[in-house]
Amino acid sequence: MSRQLIAAGNWKMNTTLTDGIELAKAISQHAQSPKALVILTPPFVSLQGVHEAIKDNDAVKLAAQNCHVEEKGAYTGEVSIDMLMAVGVEYVLVGHSERRAYNHESNELLARKVDLVLSKNLTPIFCCGEALEIREAGTHIEFVANQLKESLFHLSKADFQKIVIAYEPIWAIGTGVTASPEQAQDMHKNIRTLIENQYSAETADGTSILYGGSVKPANAKELFSNPDVDGGLVGGASLKADSFGAIIDSF
Ligand code: PGA
Repeated sequence: MSRQLIAAGNWKMNTTLTDGIELAKAISQHAQSPKALVILTPPFVSLQGVHEAIKDNDAVKLAAQNCHVEEKGAYTGEVSIDMLMAVGVEYVLVGHSERRAYNHESNELLARKVDLVLSKNLTPIFCCGEALEIREAGTHIEFVANQLKESLFHLSKADFQKIVIAYEPIWAIGTGVTASPEQAQDMHKNIRTLIENQYSAETADGTSILYGGSVKPANAKELFSNPDVDGGLVGGASLKADSFGAIIDSF
């Protein structure tokens, strides 16, 4: 099984609808036969407009930054998975560290979101990663292993094979401090070994594991050239077509 290379842009709470459509068009124009699949993750209100802008390019897919864990009901201000599907979403970020921190999303809740996303045949991009204190205490490997165990390892092998993982050390997100290629490779290798032990070598080999945290044109090539780094989840540097374009070209 060969795994997919992915350049995913997470726009977070940036870009209005007009900005987003313009950015998506420029990226789509750039991404003609790219080596990696390109995924754009705009804010909810821009999903439909961005979908229109990219729908004729098979190399560019649409993701949502989150979805609610319930399918429908009295949840004022929330967005359901069916609503996302109706506007062309194919991937959903689950467990971004900003949602874990600001919205108190637990490993248990994220396990339920993963199940929901898979039940609709969409692809969860499951985010994991440790805070600086945990890295400094030297327990980052166990910490990330526990995130995977509590949110993903209940899945059947067939379901696990449908997910994408993004390792994003919190100390590297939006800080300008990037994990070194060795630090990224080391964690990605550990994640792959955990998957092998839980499922199979074939499953581990087929899982795309992205790195996130201050990826930029200047470091993308070095990061992506590691054997266990299958691409990136990019925040700040995905907000400009030229920098994200350069990242797409780094594979
Ligand atoms: P950053 O964000 O590239 O701005 O560090 C990455 C992310 O949070 O996905």
